[in-house]
Amino acid sequence: MSRRLGVSIALVALASGGLLVSAALLCQIDPRISIRDVPNGLWLGIIFWIVLTIVASSLAVRMPGGNLLDVGFAPLLAAMSLGGPIVAGLAALIGSTQPRELRRQVSWYGVVANHAGITGPALVGAYALSQIPSRSIPVVDLIATVGAGCILFSLNILVTGSLVSVRDGEPVLRLVRADAGAYLNMLALAPVAWLMAQMYVSAGWWAVLLFAVPLYTTRLAYQRFVEVREMFTQTVQSLAEAVDKRDTFTSGHSRRVQEIAMDIGRAMKVSDDELEALEWGGLLHDIGKIGVPDAVLLKQERLTRDERATMNSHPVLGAEIIAPVNMLAPELPIIRHHHEWFNGSGYPDRLVADEIPRLARILHVADAFEAMTAARPYRMTPLTPTQALAELRKFGGIQFDPDVVDAFVRTKWARELPDAGRPETRSVPLIGNAAGSMATDGRALAEAATRAGSKGTAAAPPGDGPPAPDSACPRPAIA
Ligand SMILES: [Fe+2]
Repeated sequence: MSRRLGVSIALVALASGGLLVSAALLCQIDPRISIRDVPNGLWLGIIFWIVLTIVASSLAVRMPGGNLLDVGFAPLLAAMSLGGPIVAGLAALIGSTQPRELRRQVSWYGVVANHAGITGPALVGAYALSQIPSRSIPVVDLIATVGAGCILFSLNILVTGSLVSVRDGEPVLRLVRADAGAYLNMLALAPVAWLMAQMYVSAGWWAVLLFAVPLYTTRLAYQRFVEVREMFTQTVQSLAEAVDKRDTFTSGHSRRVQEIAMDIGRAMKVSDDELEALEWGGLLHDIGKIGVPDAVLLKQERLTRDERATMNSHPVLGAEIIAPVNMLAPELPIIRHHHEWFNGSGYPDRLVADEIPRLARILHVADAFEAMTAARPYRMTPLTPTQALAELRKFGGIQFDPDVVDAFVRTKWARELPDAGRPETRSVPLIGNAAGSMATDGRALAEAATRAGSKGTAAAPPGDGPPAPDSACPRPAIA
């Protein structure tokens, strides 16, 4: 455990403990929590809700973001509504006990963090709820209970997200948003919690047990959500692996490109959604190679013009393959444009500079670096990372977006490498721009292309990168 994490957990534990002691000193237990007509009904009622919370919490589901979700939220909120802050604090503190804690599968500080992370928010929610007047009016009580549930749940995910962020270095917002859909489902349990409390008061403790069925089906829904997402992830990974495995030289290529691209994305502070698009896009960027025949894909000799055209069709093929999958819509531009060049001489659409989607520009740099530093049949000795970085610098503004190369230098892949830094700005004509502005002057356009070619735009970097269409480069490294 790092010192920072230890201090963070201690602060959360102290705050939650302080709130619990305050509640014990300052608040009364609401008699509505009592089980009627039995001796010690008050304590039996408290124990009943704590046990119910333990049972519901014990069936937790781990969400894709790493957080555990369970339906213990419902009995906890009902106990808060019925008994007030003291009962809410006890139900949260004891009721959030997980079987894996009893099996000692969680570190002691993890146990402290989990319990403190729910107890404090439960007490804050209960305090807020206890301040609401006219709760004898059902609709007021319902709204107040849902509001208290929002406070409890929002504070809980904020506290636990912050602690996980300190532990793993992931942005809090990313952790919270990863499970956003499930959080909304959890909040939908708030009215159920209110109904449980109403049934407890009006019909008796046994009526609450009837809620076991809807709570269990809700828990099953969480589990199905996680399983379906996991299945999707594994399918995409298998697909990417299948493409890479067609060529022994590119085995694992997509996975490494994915890692590099995501690191560049983080360095450029892209949004969480964009980072996720890079995650899938990195894996699937060459999926179109499924449609490239072995005779072309695995050919070690120089490709003919037709073979080159077939090879260069893979971004379009990939986009067509992915298009029917709605969930992968954000990845389409990455897949289609990951071979566009910054100066407009790439393919398939010869986009220029900012016309190329930013994520595709990021993936292009990641793809090139991975390809340059891995062996290929036409270049058995790969470039060293330092040489590859020098190539990225050399072709910044020509093949690669210089800003993306700058961001790449800040990642772990290049941080320690000697780097001459951003080269002085070179005046490299952008072919696409020239085409736009000089469309009516064919001779001037030809001259611009010639000038660009003399600076390297029409020739691929040595041993790397796709050649410009129709170039004489023998073989693309990252096609
Ligand atoms: Fe590619």
